[in-house]
Amino acid sequence: MNIWKKLQSNKKPFYVLAPMDDVTDTVFREIVAKHAPADLMMTEFANADGYCSPGKHAIMSRLKYNPIEGPVVAQIWGIDPKNYYNMAKDMKDMGFVGVDINMGCPVKDMIKKGACSAMIQNPTLAAEVIAATKEGAGDLPVSVKTRVGFDKIDTENWIGFLLEQKLDALIVHGRTRKEMSKVPAHWEEVEKSVELRNNIAPETVIVGNGDVLSREDGDSKSKQTGVDGIMIGRGIFQNLFVFDAKDKKHTQKEMLSIMAEHIKLYEKTWGEHKSYEPLKKFYKVYINNFDGAARLRAKFMETKNAKEALNLIENASSSVE
Ligand SMILES: Cc1cc2nc3c(=O)[nH]c(=O)nc-3n(C[C@H](O)[C@H](O)[C@H](O)COP(=O)(O)O)c2cc1C
Repeated sequence: MNIWKKLQSNKKPFYVLAPMDDVTDTVFREIVAKHAPADLMMTEFANADGYCSPGKHAIMSRLKYNPIEGPVVAQIWGIDPKNYYNMAKDMKDMGFVGVDINMGCPVKDMIKKGACSAMIQNPTLAAEVIAATKEGAGDLPVSVKTRVGFDKIDTENWIGFLLEQKLDALIVHGRTRKEMSKVPAHWEEVEKSVELRNNIAPETVIVGNGDVLSREDGDSKSKQTGVDGIMIGRGIFQNLFVFDAKDKKHTQKEMLSIMAEHIKLYEKTWGEHKSYEPLKKFYKVYINNFDGAARLRAKFMETKNAKEALNLIENASSSVE
C-alpha cells in the first residue's frame, strides 16, 4: 500500500508538514521528527531541470534525507517532462516514499519559466509532466500540490482536470496564485475539491492546506470538508509542537535546549555548505511567548556564528526556567 493510502486508512485526518523553501531541510525535519512528528513531511522544492543538468550538485542539498526523519516525499518542479521522468526515477533509491509535483508556487521567476502555478494555465503541459513523473516514479506514488486557480478561483475546471489524471494524492492550497498568502484560505473550495474527488477519482487522497495553526482547527476543518489529511506550513513557526496530539507546555529552558540541538545539527550537516544567517529565521520558533522574549531574540539576531549563539544559549539557560 502506498504511503498516502496507508495514512488515509490509519487515521482521519493525518497531518503533513508543508514543503517550505529554505525551511524544511533535512535538519529541521529531523528536529520535528524527534520532538513532535508529523505523519508525513516533504522536502523543499527541488528543480528537475537543474537536477538533470551539469549543475546537479546545487540541487542535492534539497534532497538530503536521513531515515531518522521518518517518511518524506520529494517535491519537484520544472518545465521539461523528460527531466521529471529522470528525476522521479531516482527518488526511491534516495529513500523517499513519494514524488510530489509543485503546481502552486506563485513566485514570479517560476511563473516566467512557465513552471509551478503557471501550469494552472497550461493543462496540456501539466498532464505531460504528471504522466512522465508517474512513469519515472514506478511504484512510488505521485501527488500534485496546487492552488484553486491562477487569477481567479477555478476549482471545478482545474482541480477537476487534475483529478482526471488519476493522482495518488492531491494537496489543495485553498487560494489562487494571485492571492499569494494575502487572504484567508477558501476552505469552501477545498470542500468542493473533495466533492469533485468523490465523483471523478474516488481513489485519490485529498489533503487540505491553508492557515491551519493547530490540530484542533485541522480536525474541525477535516470534519467540515471531508479531506483525508491536513497540511500545516507556517503554523510550525508559532508552535514547534503543532503536530503533537498531547501538546503540553514546554519551559523556556527546554526550548533553548532544542534550539541548541538544531544549531549543532545544522553545523554538523551543512558545515561550510550553508552560511549561518539562514538559521536565524528559526529563532522565533524557540524564543517566543515569554516575558523578555523579544529582547533575548534581538541578542540572538546579532550573533555572527553558531558558536556565539551556543554560548548565548548557555548563558540564557541559567537565567530562565
Ligand atoms: C517560507 C515558505 C516557503 C515555501 N516553500 C514552498 C515550497 O518549496 N513548495 C511548496 O509547494 N510550497 C511552498 N510554500 C507554501 C506552503 O507549502 C503552504 O502551501 C503555504 O504556506 C500555506 O500553508 P500554511 O498557511 O499552513 O502556511 C512555502 C511557504 C513558505 C511560507
